[in-house]
Amino acid sequence: MKMKMKIINTVREFQATRKEMRGRLGFVPTMGALHAGHVSLMERAKEECDIVVASIFVNPTQFNDKKDLETYPNTLEADLHALENAGVDFLFMPNYSEVYLDDYRYEVREKELSKTLCGKVRPGHFDGVLSVVMKLFNIVRPTCAYFGEKDYQQYLLIKGMCEAFFLEIEIIPCPLVREADGLAMSSRNLKLDSTARQLAPLFYRELSKCKNLHECRLNLERAGFVVDYLEEEFGRRFGAVFLGKVRLIDNVQI
Ligand code: PAF
Repeated sequence: MKMKMKIINTVREFQATRKEMRGRLGFVPTMGALHAGHVSLMERAKEECDIVVASIFVNPTQFNDKKDLETYPNTLEADLHALENAGVDFLFMPNYSEVYLDDYRYEVREKELSKTLCGKVRPGHFDGVLSVVMKLFNIVRPTCAYFGEKDYQQYLLIKGMCEAFFLEIEIIPCPLVREADGLAMSSRNLKLDSTARQLAPLFYRELSKCKNLHECRLNLERAGFVVDYLEEEFGRRFGAVFLGKVRLIDNVQI
C-alpha cells in the first residue's frame, strides 16, 4: 500500500520533522491493536486539528503482569490501514531504547488517585502510563491530545499531570465506544475465546442496571466472572473483571 501517512521511528527524526509542522497538532497515543474506539479519537482529532499525529508503542513499564505484556495483541498491518484511512498524517512508532534512554531510572508518579480503582490492583501501572505519556508529550509537543473515557481514571491522571507540571496541552476526553452488544471496545477483547466473548457484554449490562455494587458483584460472579473490583467514584460506576485470563474494564455514569 502506498501511504500518505509518514511513519517515524526515532525521536531525533520526529523532533526534526516537528520543527516543520505548523498549526494545531492533535495527538492520539496508542499501544496498537486498534479498534473503532481508537479510530473515533483519530477522527475527532482530524476534525479539530491541522495535523494529526498518532503513536504506537506497547509501553512495558505500565504492565504489572509480564504475561499480559507478552500476549498483548499485535495487529500492525490492520492498524496501519486504519490510521491511513482515518487521515492520520504522522505515525510515531519508536522502540523501547528510543523512549527509555534512561532505562526507566526516571518516572512520573502520582500519589493518590493512581493508588485507587485500577491502581489498587495494578501496582505501578499508572506510574508507567504517566511516565510514557510525559515522554511522548515532550517529543510530540501537541496542542491537544485525545483519550477515551473507557480509561477514565487514566484520562483524569493525565489531565492532572498536565496541570501539575504546567504542560500547555489540552486533554480532550472522548466517549467510550461499544460493540453492538454493549461490550466496551478494547484491544484485549481480541484475547477472548468465543464462549468468553458471548458472556462479556453482561459486564456492561450489570454495571448499568444493577441497584448497587453488592448485587452487581453477585450477578457477575454467578455468571462466571471473577470480579477484580467494583467501585463508585466521580459520579461513575467503575469495574474490572476477569474472564479466564483476560481482564476487562468498563465504567458507566450513574
Ligand atoms: O491507553 C493507552 O493505550 C495507553 O495507556 C497509553 C496512553 C497509550 C500509554 O501507553
